[in-house]
Amino acid sequence: MTDNLPELRDLPELHDTIEGLRAAVRKRRGDGHRIAFVPTMGALHAGHLELVRRARTLAETVVVSIFVNPLQFGPSEDFDRYPRTLDADLAALVGLADVVFAPGVPEMYPDGASETRVMAGQVGSLYDGVSRPGHFDGTLTVVAKLFGIVAPDVAIFGQKDAQQVFLVGRMVRDLNFPMSIAVVDTVRDPDGLALSSRNRYLDAGERQTALALPAALAAGAAAADGGTQAVLDAARAVIDAEPAVRLDYLDVVDPDTFLPARSDHRGPASIIVAARVGSTRLIDNERIILP
Ligand code: PAJ
Repeated sequence: MTDNLPELRDLPELHDTIEGLRAAVRKRRGDGHRIAFVPTMGALHAGHLELVRRARTLAETVVVSIFVNPLQFGPSEDFDRYPRTLDADLAALVGLADVVFAPGVPEMYPDGASETRVMAGQVGSLYDGVSRPGHFDGTLTVVAKLFGIVAPDVAIFGQKDAQQVFLVGRMVRDLNFPMSIAVVDTVRDPDGLALSSRNRYLDAGERQTALALPAALAAGAAAADGGTQAVLDAARAVIDAEPAVRLDYLDVVDPDTFLPARSDHRGPASIIVAARVGSTRLIDNERIILP
């Protein structure tokens, strides 16, 4: 440790092996710490950091994982070009995270892809699961592995990925993981675009076009008094007015089931949207109340 590089002293403890990570967690548990865990794929932005800040309020030790999980990417998806920015990520976590787990693929999948998988079930084959077959099985499988490795008291997820949050919550209940899940609201740029590691793929024009997603959600939310169909129509009109947005799905779901809300649905609901802008696939959602 060099005195004239004070920031180095504050870097989180970095582990790339399961054994090393487990030893670090064991030591902290021995000191009486609770463990809060934030799983990520890195390329950290202010949305991720908000999850890490929440983690700090929930436990004495904050563990962040950075792992681009091949199992949740389809063959034609962006696994290879997904941004990997470990040094910048560690710098962003100074003072926020205590332990970072950044394993390589062979550490997580020493036998190649894991034979045993978590099945996401019916909801896993809807919405993002339609255009990304197997995505949620791959996501839940790595999340289950990470929960088994870190053994946290609480794990923190972003509402930005609403279907993922729903499915992780269901997995924790269905498979009795002895832990809880905390959810953080979507962090947005000032113009409304939800922060995403994939936003860096957008050029200036595409970034402007992408604002149709939050605009559609806002229009839908403003039409909530008219019920499910009015919300869908209002949101759809905004998307249709922007031909450069190629809609993947737009729907209103019941948050208890993540299935389409009925036309007479009342109470909490979520508008969910996914679309392609150029070659970049973006998702967003907003919670509403249908009176
Ligand atoms: P990643 O896309 O890196 O996201 C990590 C966490 O950050 C997720 O819980 C996600 O919902 C949250 N997040 C991303 N953008 C956000 C925003 N704008 N506001 C609030 N939270 C945001 O999601 C994954 O990685 C992976 O699927 C993972 C769970 C790590 C499994 O591989």
